[in-house]
Amino acid sequence: MTAQAFETAVTPIRWIGGWDDGRVEMIDQKLLPNEETWFSYEDAQGVAGAIKEMVIRGAPAIGIAASYGVVLGMRELTRAGAEVPVASIDELFELLANTRPTAVNLFWALERMRALVDARGDQSREGFMRGLFDEAEFIRTDDRERCLTMGKFGAELMPEGARILTHCNTGGLATGGYGTALGVIRATNAAGKLAHVWIDETRPYLQGARLTAWECVKDELPSTLITDNMAGHFMQRGQVDAVVVGADRIGADGSTANKIGTYTLAVLCKHHGIPFYVAAPLSTIDLAITSGEDIPIEQRSAREVTHVGNRVLAPEGVGVAHPAFDVTPGDLIAGVITEKGVARAPYTESLAALFDTE
Ligand code: MRU
Repeated sequence: MTAQAFETAVTPIRWIGGWDDGRVEMIDQKLLPNEETWFSYEDAQGVAGAIKEMVIRGAPAIGIAASYGVVLGMRELTRAGAEVPVASIDELFELLANTRPTAVNLFWALERMRALVDARGDQSREGFMRGLFDEAEFIRTDDRERCLTMGKFGAELMPEGARILTHCNTGGLATGGYGTALGVIRATNAAGKLAHVWIDETRPYLQGARLTAWECVKDELPSTLITDNMAGHFMQRGQVDAVVVGADRIGADGSTANKIGTYTLAVLCKHHGIPFYVAAPLSTIDLAITSGEDIPIEQRSAREVTHVGNRVLAPEGVGVAHPAFDVTPGDLIAGVITEKGVARAPYTESLAALFDTE
C-alpha cells in the first residue's frame, strides 16, 4: 500500500455486516504498535468496556464508538417486541456515558443518538434500527470528511518547510480517519510544505510513541520521536516552527482540555514566540463550558505512571498523581482550527460564530 493510500485507509473502527446481524470491530490501540489485532463487539457492554479500557481512544473516535454502542444496545432492547423498555434505554445511555468524562464528543454523539431514540414514535423496528445504524455510520464518515477540511485550513497556516511538534495521538486512530492535528500535518505534507514532525512521546500512556509514531512511519512522514521534556530544548534551538495539538473539550472562552502535557507546551510556545494551534471539529466544542475549571478531568490509575507494561519504574508506596488531561487557557492559543475555518481570539465570539452555519 502506498503512503497516500494508507492515509485514506487508517481507521480505528468499522462495522461488519448489516444492522441486524452485524458487529463493530476496533483495532486494539493498547497493543499497537506491536500487534495489529481487531476485536469484535456484539453488545453495548463490550463497547463501553472498550472505551473505558482504551482499546479505542481519542475524542472523536470515542464518540463514534459510543454511537455504535447505541445501535448494539437498541438492537438488543428492541429484539423481543415492538415496545421499547424506557428504563433500559436510560441504562444503556448511562452505561456508555459513564466511560470517560473529559472528551465531550462522547456526550455529543450520545445526544444525537438519543434524539433519534426519543423520536421513534410508531416507526417499525426495521425503520427505527436502520435510522440509528445510518446515523452511527454518518457520524463516523462525516468525522473523516471534517478532518480532511480541517487539514486544509490548518495547512494554510503552516510555513514552507514547516517543522511541527505534536502531542498525543490525533490521527486516523483517534478519529473517523485522517486526524485532527495529525490531519493538519498530513495536509501540510500533501501541500509539499512539511519538513519535519516532532512527536512527543506523551507520558505516561505513550500515545505519541506508540500510535502517532506508528502512523507517521506508515505514512513515511519525516519524523522524530522525543520525550516530552525535550520539547523546550528543540524550541530554544529554533527547530520548531509550530505546535499543533488536538482537543478533548474546548470551552466557550477557548479553554482547551487535551492530553496532559499540552499546557506545558503552550507555555513553552509563548516563551519562544512559537504559534500554538488546536485542531478540533465542532463536536469537540462545548459552549456550555464558560470556564476551563469546569471541564471534568479524568483521573487515571497510578499504575499507568509507575509501570510501563509489566515493568515497574517506581518504588512501591510512593504517592502518584495521574490527571489524564490538562487545560490550556485561550490566551495561549494562536488559533482553533476547525472544519468551518480558523477561530481566533476573542474566542467567546469566534467559537460561537462557527455554529451559525452548522
Ligand atoms: O486519553 P486519550 O488517548 O483518549 O487522549 C486523546 C487526546 O488527548 C487527543 O489529543 C484528543 O482526544 C484529540 S484526538 C483527535
